[in-house]
Amino acid sequence: MDVKQQTQKKIANTLALTVTIEQFEYPKQLDHGDLALPCFRFAKALKTSPQQIAQSIKQALQTDEMYTKIEVVGGYVNFFFHRERIAANVLLAKPVTPTHQGTVTIDMSSPNIAKPFSMGHLRSTIIGESLARMHEHVGFRTVKINHLGDWGTQFGKLISAYKTWGVKEEIENNPIPELLKLYVRFHEEGDEEEGRRWFKQLEDGDDEAVQLWTWFKSESLKEFKKIYQRLGVGFDAITGESFYNDRMGAVVDVLKEKRLLIESDDAQVVPLEEQNLPPCLIQKNDGATLYATRDLAAAIYRKETYEFTQSLYVVGHEQSLHFTQLKAVLKKAGFHWPDAMEHVPFAHSLGRQKDVHT
Ligand code: ARG
Repeated sequence: MDVKQQTQKKIANTLALTVTIEQFEYPKQLDHGDLALPCFRFAKALKTSPQQIAQSIKQALQTDEMYTKIEVVGGYVNFFFHRERIAANVLLAKPVTPTHQGTVTIDMSSPNIAKPFSMGHLRSTIIGESLARMHEHVGFRTVKINHLGDWGTQFGKLISAYKTWGVKEEIENNPIPELLKLYVRFHEEGDEEEGRRWFKQLEDGDDEAVQLWTWFKSESLKEFKKIYQRLGVGFDAITGESFYNDRMGAVVDVLKEKRLLIESDDAQVVPLEEQNLPPCLIQKNDGATLYATRDLAAAIYRKETYEFTQSLYVVGHEQSLHFTQLKAVLKKAGFHWPDAMEHVPFAHSLGRQKDVHT
């Protein structure tokens, strides 16, 4: 029984008042507590004022150990939950029998290398880990996947910036801020053309380019791992965007074969008009593949590798359109499983966005 139901029961036990679950509200402001009950609607039946009713509810429940505080504001009762106690009760609750079967893949955390680990990545990590533990608890097999942002033209720029201004020791001592500095400096005074050339070298497997990219990646991962360690979070697969480099061609081929690709503004796209969605960008005409294409490759790879019954993506709500498009393209391509994919969005936290420091 959850705390809301318990509160409802307690009110029913102490007062001659039937309250339904729907009559409770969640206060919009944090300082108004965790749960509120407006008492206006009971005034007529009880022949007394809403304030009076709110007072008697407060009186009856205020010594209860589930709450740290109960406040009356106007005709409302505001309940402040005793979080530690409630958490302990949840953890000590009767163990459930693991009756579920199947495999759930969970795309979670997925920060971008050489960039700070953001509040959004932190939320994804924690929500993803919680989902994994709950799913495992009830019997599912889970596969936690870190879809690192480790590929793209930005790495050509970073290599170029490092070659021009980089100092190895500085990066080793303080990798993320130093790499970020180089990246910012490139945008101010770097040579775009050279950045593009280095990315091409990287794509072609040039030794020096690959070595530098591998080093940026391992330095960044070292930092991210400190955060994961502190949180007690681990992954079953750290397969970033670069993992799909040699699987992109096959995706483009499938889309071509099904005649889904059309040319638009120097790019190949899958139109999604019937679904009322903007077209999904698959490939630029210079050959570069895009975020969506990597996710298409990743979705297919996950289905083939893990045979998931459900595939979750714990990613900020600003990417909702991306995941809707992803499912739509896979459906159009004839795959029968995209409905098993689910975006688990979360909002930005209010207040100043901060990066997470290691
Ligand atoms: N690296 C991306 C970002 O920081 C998140 C990736 C989420 N996962 C995915 N399969 N697209 O915005």
